[in-house]
Amino acid sequence: MAQTRALEYDHFLVLFLVFVMFEVSSGDGVGVNWGTMSTHHLPADNVVQMLRENRFNKLKLFEADKKILDALIGSDIEVMLAIPNYMLLEMSEDPGAAASWVYANVSSYFYTGGVNIKYVAVGNEPFLRTYNDTYRYITLPALKNIQQALNDAGLGSKIKATVPFNADIYNSPESNPVPSAGGFRDEVKDLTIGIIQFLHLNNAPFTVNIYPFLSLYGNDYFPVDFAFFEGTNKPIRDGSLLYTNVFDANFDTLVWSLDKAGYPDMHIIVGEVGWPTDGDKNANIENAKKFSQGLLKHVLSGAGTPARKGTIDVYLFSLLDENAKSIAPGNFERHWGIFEYDGKPKYELDLSGKMKNKGLAPVEGVAYMPRRWCVLNPHADDFEELPDSIDYACSLSDCTALGYGSSCNHLTVEGNASYAFNMYYQMNSQESWNCDFSGLAMVTDGDPSDDHCQFPVMIAHGSSLLLRGGILDTLLAVVGQCIVFALLLC
Ligand SMILES: *[C@@H]1O[C@H](CO)[C@@H](O)[C@H](O)[C@H]1NC(C)=O
Ligand SMILES: *[C@@H]1O[C@H](CO)[C@@H](O)[C@H](O)[C@H]1NC(C)=O
Ligand SMILES: *[C@@H]1O[C@H](CO)[C@@H](O)[C@H](O)[C@H]1NC(C)=O
Repeated sequence: MAQTRALEYDHFLVLFLVFVMFEVSSGDGVGVNWGTMSTHHLPADNVVQMLRENRFNKLKLFEADKKILDALIGSDIEVMLAIPNYMLLEMSEDPGAAASWVYANVSSYFYTGGVNIKYVAVGNEPFLRTYNDTYRYITLPALKNIQQALNDAGLGSKIKATVPFNADIYNSPESNPVPSAGGFRDEVKDLTIGIIQFLHLNNAPFTVNIYPFLSLYGNDYFPVDFAFFEGTNKPIRDGSLLYTNVFDANFDTLVWSLDKAGYPDMHIIVGEVGWPTDGDKNANIENAKKFSQGLLKHVLSGAGTPARKGTIDVYLFSLLDENAKSIAPGNFERHWGIFEYDGKPKYELDLSGKMKNKGLAPVEGVAYMPRRWCVLNPHADDFEELPDSIDYACSLSDCTALGYGSSCNHLTVEGNASYAFNMYYQMNSQESWNCDFSGLAMVTDGDPSDDHCQFPVMIAHGSSLLLRGGILDTLLAVVGQCIVFALLLC
């Protein structure tokens, strides 16, 4: 109202105010997900400094990591803080546990000059098809308990609980694959609408993760240009609306699903969106840059999607590569970072969406282990154990760059062995006993990398073996392998 009046009297003041609001409001601009499924962690302070330098003004965390929250104190980066799925059961059953969580991880950081927490994400993709019904009936009760705990702590008007969903909770029928035919997936429809009802009541947003890369992955018939934002000569027509990219089509399928459920004005946040740079034939730096630049230009332009105008809130996935993520979904899982494991940017990205060729600032002050690598000993002559040694090294480290279409797929058998040995050695912090492999391996100070394939040297910062998620799968693989070994020994 005030602004309308001002418009009549002082056009320029409004323009100025809008400009100022846009420049200083930390809620604007682009967000990023900071996952920590890695064997070695960069110092959180240095990473936060990099976030500020690059003007990432929104951050999503998968867990209330104390080191990260401490590092965020005093920055005005807006934070979405998640409660991991394994805590949902407790949060759903015990309001006291929800209150303790809020007290320890939100209230104690939420003060003037503290951490600018804006959302609590309750779980992560809890209705994902592959989880079956593990979290199906506990998600809403957990959400309610957390929002109640926020309200009780006096934070309810400032901090909203939401649930990041995978886009697999809605779809359009195969017979009519257009957004306006979309709706929530039958098995979770009522539960999802129950959650939406609660979110809406609390003025909380609906959060969804959208992955155009996955539309392309494993579907050789998917039109490649539809995954990006540069137009296509075969747009999808939906009534009077034309779709030239899958991101919009996916987003609008949600818009229509919400509309049909009776919530046409529900605010939507894209909690994860991004493109990996290795581990698949479509996962490379060129595609990742093309996707991210196109996405930012699009979502920040205000043009919106065909069914909903305005800027779109997005959190890029993700900040850093994570070498301990589960690769059950595919080898690309460890390569989503806009930055390498050591905080170096992989490509230029203009976060203002203006498509200038602007470099991103790296994480400063990173310490590395000594420049040495573990490689296949050129004098080795008994190769009987080589295949088993490679399998062993890979199962306990990260050989995702060796696969088909990946950056190191051109290596010879010997190169593969060296790559595997080195990854095992680096991920185990270069301990000398981790470069032996029955005499097949040796340490060298000559960098075995080539133009395409990097043999990394590990960073010399906190190594922490994760025992959940990523590493757990690897451990299970190893247990399986030990059994095989035991059989061979018999
Ligand atoms: C705070 O969050 C951390 C990380 O998720 C968790 O380990 C801890 O138990 C939480 N604190 C409480 C009191 O719930
Ligand atoms: C989900 O169900 C399938 C089929 O019954 C089963 O193979 C799979 O292990 C289940 N996944 C989880 C996470 O429970
Ligand atoms: C190297 O390893 C990768 C991944 O296991 C495999 O696809 C490739 O064929 C191997 N290269 C050679 C020359 O054996």
